[in-house]
Amino acid sequence: MSSGAGRLRVAVLVSGTGSNLQAILDAAPDLCIEVCAVLSNRAECYGLERARRAGVPAVFVDPKAHADRAAYDAALAEGIDAFRPGLVVLAGFMRILSDAFVRHYQGRLINIHPSLLPKYRGLDTHARCLAAGDREHGATVHFVVPELDAGPIVLQARVPVLPDDTPEALAARVLEQEHRIYPAAIGWFAEGRLALQGGLALLDGSPLPAP
Ligand code: GAR
Repeated sequence: MSSGAGRLRVAVLVSGTGSNLQAILDAAPDLCIEVCAVLSNRAECYGLERARRAGVPAVFVDPKAHADRAAYDAALAEGIDAFRPGLVVLAGFMRILSDAFVRHYQGRLINIHPSLLPKYRGLDTHARCLAAGDREHGATVHFVVPELDAGPIVLQARVPVLPDDTPEALAARVLEQEHRIYPAAIGWFAEGRLALQGGLALLDGSPLPAP
């Protein structure tokens, strides 16, 4: 599939395996998007390798080369903006982003988080869900706002918690759903159906119902 005009340019930020990136790359021809760049804070992460294999520019932005978070985020934004994306997608990007960075991409920065937000912001969501004895778990796509994992929700997927689940088994069940809902949400954005307005996520002009 050629990267034609009219396709939404999407930059993806990864820190790890990049299975969500792969789902997005695989869905790109059907979504009318072009993954224009993949950027990472980890040189050796498999996500960058996936980008290279797909013929997408893979950019490592080295945290050690920058004095503080503000300097790093400025360099990261410069790296992203060189590719002129219309949407920036966090796909397992494991760094807290500064308010200035988030504001720079307001309304065109989305994240996927492995829990049914607002439950379990932050890390170790699967273990925390098991420890709490929850009977269901899931994943959430949301617009990014300065407060961590607190932005308006776009889409959620639920999975059952099974007897004898381990964090790993539960994570795998959730990840399967992530690979379904993240491309779907990106497709909505590419079609111009999804927007952030007045602190609300709107689909076709109407606020998305609270989960
Ligand atoms: C995914 O489960 C994603 O939801 C999570 O990291 C994993 C990345 O997997 N993100 C976060 O925890 C962000 N707070 P992947 O590299 O295989 O896409």
